[in-house]
Amino acid sequence: MKVLVTGGAGYIGSHTAKELVRDGHEVVVLDNFSTGHRWAVQWGELVEGDVGDVALVARTLRRYGIDAVVHFAASAYVGESMVDPRKYFRNNVVNTIGLLDGMLAVGVTRIVFSSTCATYGIPEQLPLTEEHPQKPVNPYGESKLFIEKMLGWYAPAYGFTYAALRYFNAAGADPDRQLGEAHFPETHLIPLVIEAALGRRGPVDIFGTDYPTPDGTAIRDYIHVTDLARAHVLALRQLEAGNSVLLNLGTGRGYSVREVIAAVETVIGRTVPARETPRRAGDPAVLVAAAGRAAKVLGWTPKCSELVEIVRTAFDWHASQS
Ligand code: UFG
Repeated sequence: MKVLVTGGAGYIGSHTAKELVRDGHEVVVLDNFSTGHRWAVQWGELVEGDVGDVALVARTLRRYGIDAVVHFAASAYVGESMVDPRKYFRNNVVNTIGLLDGMLAVGVTRIVFSSTCATYGIPEQLPLTEEHPQKPVNPYGESKLFIEKMLGWYAPAYGFTYAALRYFNAAGADPDRQLGEAHFPETHLIPLVIEAALGRRGPVDIFGTDYPTPDGTAIRDYIHVTDLARAHVLALRQLEAGNSVLLNLGTGRGYSVREVIAAVETVIGRTVPARETPRRAGDPAVLVAAAGRAAKVLGWTPKCSELVEIVRTAFDWHASQS
């Protein structure tokens, strides 16, 4: 297929562009470099611009004969979304409406959409199945849920087929070290722990030690970015077959903040300076996926998401950056 990857200069988008090309697809990246990196666009053509630019989207889809869109471009900081919700509804919801308008203008109706476990809110039961009620507790999750709902309505009305993929905690880096995680500012646990271990920043904060978990710190389901990328390739096959899907992408196994720090210490053989601080607002105690549906529907199971492998690939990449 010829695939337009919006946000293809970003963390998950760039890993997915690589995986798509490896699977024989042709890729065109659409990115405005507001948070993405030019060095991350190594596969396929590049079109620089906004996903919300309807005319640009339509022109690009037509010019390259695109068959399907994989849509990553979005603002993705939970904390920022609490203080600047307007940015999230504009960048995520409004710009996605523009993207979908551009697709409709030229009759492209297949889309894989980056959703998130943040659409669930506070878990009522664990692990989180796809049927769990969706009650986001931040504007980021709310914006992603709105797009899921739009796709649900666009499917019967306009003949869209879509895959809404609810990622748990994306982590790790390309095993070939061509790509890795580089957010500015960085807020994610694993890169922060690695940078603290490398002496590139001060002690890592452990946000909350009074959670109702075995060691008192919050538990997350970390999924390797290369496993996520492969799930997108498989989701495209479902779209080709005419099936819309709505799936969690996680491992089904959670690790606490202290376990992540311990894994980094084991992998790199150094003590990680850490300090205990109060909880970060809006962080649930435990988020773990029920991973069965993706296995059944896509035939997808994580291949490189053991915590030590996530940490090793992330560390290799960070260590290679000066
Ligand atoms: N944490 C720390 N110290 C830090 C950073 C994080 O203790 O310096 C903790 C957090 O409190 C959390 C865990 O480490 O318990 C993971 O935090 P991340 O910031 O790495 O990831 P989040 O779980 O907050 O966020 C991820 C994705 C979001 C998504 C969210 C769903 O990055 O896009 O999961 O909750 F929305």
